Amino acid sequence: MTHSFTWPALAFAALAVAGCAAPDAGKAGPMGMMGGGMGGGMGGGMMKGRMAVASLTPTQGNNVRGLVMFHEMDGHLMVHARISGLKPNGEHGFHVHETGSCASADGTSAGGHFNPDGKPHGPQTAAHHAGDLPALKADANGMADQKFMLMGPTLVAGPASVVGRAVVVHALPDDYTTQPTGNSGARIACGVIAGH
Ligand code: CU
Ligand code: ZN
Repeated sequence: MTHSFTWPALAFAALAVAGCAAPDAGKAGPMGMMGGGMGGGMGGGMMKGRMAVASLTPTQGNNVRGLVMFHEMDGHLMVHARISGLKPNGEHGFHVHETGSCASADGTSAGGHFNPDGKPHGPQTAAHHAGDLPALKADANGMADQKFMLMGPTLVAGPASVVGRAVVVHALPDDYTTQPTGNSGARIACGVIAGH
């Protein structure tokens, strides 16, 4: 499978402009072509530019695909998901799973939810797996474009790192209650998170 044409570049541009951009002159981009530390800067943010991306492809019999971009900033992880082929106006469970493999036709190769802290499955507002994410909410065209911020998961090497793990989209809403899965049904798209 090849990468999807211009998507990544566009998406990264959007990401830079939107959530993750530096306070002002972010033009040099997160890739770091800024020669010397210009201006006094305002602490932390700009020195880290860790990014990662998962390119989601459909599991067998599905047509869900998209990109999930991760950008680490000031101790939290910004996530931007742009996904198509979802159920129109539907809600879909969305998680980081522990194993970075989408090799199986049904996505089960990605294993269970990423859970380095031994927590129960749950919503962001209560104890939850590090890999539990806010649900995807599709528009009338089956597209979702969502950004959110996570506390805990990181792109920094170590037990909390999501790099090398997998993002999974499910067929059904996550009830955030059923253990340990949220009962969100089949895995309809999967993508391995690759560092940049
Ligand atoms: Cu999942
Ligand atoms: Zn979970």
